[in-house]
Amino acid sequence: MTTNTLFTPLRLGAITLPNRIIMAPLTRMRAGAENVPTALNATYYAQRASAGLIISEGTAISPQAHGYPSAPGIYTTAQMVGWRAVTDAVHARGGRIVMQIAHNGRNSHSSLLPDGALPVAPSAVPPSLPALTKAFQQVPSEIPRALETAEISGIVATFRQAALNAIEAGFDGVELQGANSHLIEQFLEDGTNQRTDRYGGSKENRVRFLLEIVAAVSTAIGSDRLGVRLSPFGQYGGIHDSSPQALFTFIIKALNQHRLAYLHLIEARGSEIGLTDELHQDALNNAALFRPVFDGPLLSAAAYSPESAAQAIEKQHADAIAFGRLFIANPDLPKRIQFGLPLTAYDRATFYGGDAHGYTDYPFYNKPAAVSA
Ligand SMILES: Cc1cc2nc3c(=O)[nH]c(=O)nc-3n(C[C@H](O)[C@H](O)[C@H](O)COP(=O)(O)O)c2cc1C
Repeated sequence: MTTNTLFTPLRLGAITLPNRIIMAPLTRMRAGAENVPTALNATYYAQRASAGLIISEGTAISPQAHGYPSAPGIYTTAQMVGWRAVTDAVHARGGRIVMQIAHNGRNSHSSLLPDGALPVAPSAVPPSLPALTKAFQQVPSEIPRALETAEISGIVATFRQAALNAIEAGFDGVELQGANSHLIEQFLEDGTNQRTDRYGGSKENRVRFLLEIVAAVSTAIGSDRLGVRLSPFGQYGGIHDSSPQALFTFIIKALNQHRLAYLHLIEARGSEIGLTDELHQDALNNAALFRPVFDGPLLSAAAYSPESAAQAIEKQHADAIAFGRLFIANPDLPKRIQFGLPLTAYDRATFYGGDAHGYTDYPFYNKPAAVSA
C-alpha cells in the first residue's frame, strides 16, 4: 500500500503542517546542568526538522515538577535561552516545534526535588514503578505528599507561566502532558485521586484540575496553540480508573469547548513503552473509539508502522500520527517513509541519558553507491 495520505498538509489551530508525520514527545535525559538545554539538544531536534511537527520531550514547569534526572525545565531564564537555540535551529531548517509542558507529580524522587522534598500527588498513593534518582539509580518509589487544596491554583498558574515562557523561547505552541501517569492524569483517574475536596470524587471534580490548566493556558497563549495529550486505558506506573471509557468521553467532550489546536491520544498498550505491533493489534483502539467524540484535529500515537499509520489516516481514525522510537533512530523518517527506504533499528540502551551516542549519531539515509559490474 502507499503512504501518500501521510504527505498532505494539515492545519492544527494556528500551526500548518506540511505532512502528517509527527515526532512524539521523547524524554532523553540529556539536558545540561540546571536542566538547561544544550547545543547537543539543538542538533538532535534540528536533525528531525522534516517532521510535520516536533513535540519536545516532557519539560518540567517548575523545580517541583521534575521526575527524571537530566530532563529539561522551562522555568529559568537560562533554560529559556537554551530552548531558544533549539527552536531557532528547528525553524532554520524549516520545521515546527511545540513544547510538551509537564508536571511528573508522584512519578519522581526526592533527590530530584528542591530541598529533598517528597514528590507531590493528588493523594498519598505511590506508583508501582521504581523511581530514578538524580544519579540515575533505580530505587523503590516514595509515598508522595498529597497536595493541599490551597496549593493547586499555584500549580495551575505555573503551567500558564511555563506556556508563556515556551512561546517566548520561540515554540510554535505547547502540549499539555495529560498522559502517561503524570500529575494531570493522577488527578483524572480514581485509582490515584482519593481526594474529598472539589478536585476529587466525581469525574467533574477530578477533571477540574485539567480544565483549569487548559483555561489558564488558553487565555495566555491562545487555545489554537495548545494541544492536550491523554492516554485512555493506559496503566503506566499502576495508574487506573474504574470506568475509563466514561471518564475519557466526558473529558474529551469538555475539551471540545476550548477549540484546541489538537487532541493527542496514545494507544492503550503503547503507553507501556516497548510493546510490539503484534500486541497492539489486540488493544482497544483509542483513536477509533474517541474520534467521533472530539471535534478538532486528532493525533494518534504508539506502535505505529508507516503502513498502519497511513491506514489510520485513510480510515479517518486520526488526522496525524506521532512516531516515537522510529524517530529516535531515523532523523529523516518522513523521507524514509515517503520513498519506502529501509528503517534503522533503535538501540534501547541509549534511550535515556548519556551523550551524542544513540542521540545525534543515527545516520541519515544515503543512497548506497551503485555497484559496478
Ligand atoms: C525513550 C522514550 C521517552 C518517552 N518520553 C515521553 C515524554 O517525555 N512524554 C510523553 O508524553 N511520552 C513519552 N514517551 C512515549 C512516546 O511519546 C510514545 O507515545 C511511545 O514511544 C509509543 O510510540 P512509538 O511506538 O512510536 O515509540 C516516551 C517514549 C520513549 C520510548
